[in-house]
Amino acid sequence: MAIVSSETAGGFPKGFVWGVSTSAYQIEGATREDGREASVWDTFCQREGAVLSGDTADVTCDHYHRFREDVKLMSEFQVPAYRLSISWPRVMSTDSSQPNELGLAFYDALIDELLAAGISPWVTLFHWDFPQSRHDQGGWLNPRCVDWFAEYASTVVERLSDRVTQWITVNEPQCFLHFGHGLGINAPGVKLSLADQLTAAHHVLLAHGRAVAIIREHAKLPPQVGWAPVGITCSPATEDRAHQEAARRATMDVKADNLWNNTWFSDPVFLGHYPEEGLRAYGKAAPKYAASDMQHIAAPLDFLGLNIYTAMPVESQADGSWSEVSLAPGTARTAFDWPVREECLYWGPKFHAERYGVPIVITENGMANIDWPARDGRVHDPQRIDYLHRHLLALHRGIVEGVDVRGYFHWSWMDNFEWAEGFRRRFGLIYVDFESGLRRPKDSAAWYREVIRSHGRSLFTE
Ligand code: FCB
Repeated sequence: MAIVSSETAGGFPKGFVWGVSTSAYQIEGATREDGREASVWDTFCQREGAVLSGDTADVTCDHYHRFREDVKLMSEFQVPAYRLSISWPRVMSTDSSQPNELGLAFYDALIDELLAAGISPWVTLFHWDFPQSRHDQGGWLNPRCVDWFAEYASTVVERLSDRVTQWITVNEPQCFLHFGHGLGINAPGVKLSLADQLTAAHHVLLAHGRAVAIIREHAKLPPQVGWAPVGITCSPATEDRAHQEAARRATMDVKADNLWNNTWFSDPVFLGHYPEEGLRAYGKAAPKYAASDMQHIAAPLDFLGLNIYTAMPVESQADGSWSEVSLAPGTARTAFDWPVREECLYWGPKFHAERYGVPIVITENGMANIDWPARDGRVHDPQRIDYLHRHLLALHRGIVEGVDVRGYFHWSWMDNFEWAEGFRRRFGLIYVDFESGLRRPKDSAAWYREVIRSHGRSLFTE
């Protein structure tokens, strides 16, 4: 990754990457075409009551057929970088462990189209669409999943690394493990014991490490590799030192009964061991593993991707503990009910950079809104513009203070299938009519184009 200079006056550092994000399952559709196999999400969507309004991703944005139009629109909006994911069940045929040529050809064409438009592809290997047949063989609980993932990663790297240089191994392990394997409200919809969830998590970490090694050994162009976890970001109630320390500790805390935390995942990856607080909290449920595992898991990365949407304010208590501060009545919230707290993009990167000492890339940030085309035919989304503006200024504050942030990817480029929440709320800069497939740029897309064009300077002139 290019080294970012500290020249930030009135804008963002040289080399700072502006981008947009999506994931395969949420936008592609064509779930039964060209040899694509079922993923756990296809199965989950068929389950009565699993997804809001019974929505499915069988068609969603139909990006599989409309990708040229989508890339053209990105190019019109001068998007420099696009974070996409590859669908594992589209490119691997499970029975034979053989690549599916037609699936790979789709990504060939997509990458070529992006490069021809001058857009840099940032490829995520796993964004939750796990092959159903592999799940039937034990999924992430079966230790062989590490080999399955390695087979898949090798196939993608062999095929795309002559053109792709930016790689992200796994998206939000916390989310698909906690919601999918703990609470059972996301695919695959199972409720494992805490010990089993932690075993699955250990396998995910090993799979990540194997993928890093594969990318480093086999990539045809020099690669930049990261991963994109999620977790709670806590912000201090005031900037008083004690509250800052409380927020730092709260952000890095592990709760005994679930996997929704930062450090159980990123400490092994960046520090080579599980966190002490986590081992204490999980006790006997913590996995047993070979000492050599940590060497594989801690394969060096070029950046830490952070998906951050909000922050939880906390304060320090007299006894040195921390507690959550309740939000004022009527606090601004997105259509997902997530509080609008732009300080998340200041404290989140800062705390992570301090702990891990690696460059940060914001791989997701954005908001759900209830958008619709107005009578003038346009989609006005002032809330999203304000959300973005606030968050980018907060991110900039950290950068000016020395936090090494190398890029920002807005979630999402276009409205899409929001997992168990279906299509009701919209995260895109581009409005998608899910019946006709028509795309309409929202006001926020034009606003973001100005941010990109001015390399962030427009944030300071409004
Ligand atoms: C993240 C997911 C992404 C999208 C956003 C809103 O947890 O990585 O796919 O659903 O939330």
